[in-house]
Amino acid sequence: MTAPVTTRSSADLIRAEEPVVAHNYHPLPVVVARAEGTWVEDVEGRRYLDLLAGYSALNFGHRHPALIEAAHRQLDRLTLTSRAFHNDRLAEFAERLAALTGLDMVLPMNTGAEAVESGIKVARKWAYEVKGVPADQATIVVAAENFHGRTTTIVSFSTDETARQGFGPFTPGFRIVPYNDLAALEAAVDETTAAVLLEPIQGEAGVVIPDDGYLAGVRELTRRKGCLFVADEIQSGLGRTGRTLAVQHEGVVPDVLLLGKALGGGIVPVSAVVARRDVLGVLRPGEHGSTFGGNPLSAAVGTAVVEILETGEFQRRAAELGVVLRGGLSALLGKGVVGFRARGLWAGVDIDPEVGTGREISQRLLREGVLVKDTHGSTIRLAPPLTITSEELEGALGALARVLT
Ligand SMILES: Cc1ncc(COP(=O)(O)O)c(C=O)c1O
Repeated sequence: MTAPVTTRSSADLIRAEEPVVAHNYHPLPVVVARAEGTWVEDVEGRRYLDLLAGYSALNFGHRHPALIEAAHRQLDRLTLTSRAFHNDRLAEFAERLAALTGLDMVLPMNTGAEAVESGIKVARKWAYEVKGVPADQATIVVAAENFHGRTTTIVSFSTDETARQGFGPFTPGFRIVPYNDLAALEAAVDETTAAVLLEPIQGEAGVVIPDDGYLAGVRELTRRKGCLFVADEIQSGLGRTGRTLAVQHEGVVPDVLLLGKALGGGIVPVSAVVARRDVLGVLRPGEHGSTFGGNPLSAAVGTAVVEILETGEFQRRAAELGVVLRGGLSALLGKGVVGFRARGLWAGVDIDPEVGTGREISQRLLREGVLVKDTHGSTIRLAPPLTITSEELEGALGALARVLT
């Protein structure tokens, strides 16, 4: 790995952040300076196995050579044009992303929350122009315990009080139903409903996987009731669960797909709304946009990401290593683990509160050289880069076993 760019210690850098960086996160006490593949290194040269992978933005590992090469090549040619002009990278990115997902059209954006906001605008516009919902009456049905981002409209339909408290007034037009409950969804959808917006697996909630048949049921219900199914695959998508998309486990094609995180290869923020032409086609010039969305650097990296996914290699790895992950976690049941949910290389692990909080377990794992992040008090989330080897995964599970005893 390359030489350090700072001579300051981890402790010094952590102290230095305190007065000048907003306290909107509570990071674990590690200062990462370099990374390669599944491993990161702190400023003192200590190495850690990364089992968070940038909340799944690093599905293909840190600095995947093909992605770094695509970025370097593009950096040397053209980085930004704005959409005031065409650029020579956007068409291929959109063509290949649409083909990969089985949909028609792409609206390129940057962050996940922006893709969600854009999806909401598109669904509302579709409801007024195509479905014929009276002006300003459109509703969107969402699930309790959702996580779709942090903007004011998105936290308007969050059920997490920490995300909402102090940020009102909120955007109207959302109905919240319990997740994994088709009857509740059926009751909430009416003639004003533009869309049902769901995570096919709820990531931040603790990798909550709905019952078999739920996503297919949502697909059938939304089709029958004449509203859109908007699937937020910003965290679940792009190989993580052993398929390109989590909805594919039930053979479902949504009307609108929201992608982000890994679409930027861990290099640049890239997100997208991908949809059928009759849905995304409602947008006309001036109605929506972004200075950076669809820029040539993002499009080049995004195209390289799609190229990797076209091979199916990482989807296969996630499915195969997912078996190792499940096996390792099953062996810990009753030994500090009270339950877990896993699909592909993604797991939410509920820790016995007697053994420690999720935060405490994350801190103990840090000392063992493994990076994870807690969510919701007693749960830790495991989402290694899909480049992880079975030996590395077994090593991490061994470390988890040690810190639980
Ligand atoms: C399902 C889902 N949607 C949206 C987002 C928001 O993405 P971003 O943080 O890039 O705005 C996240 C982030 O964790 C997510 O998990």
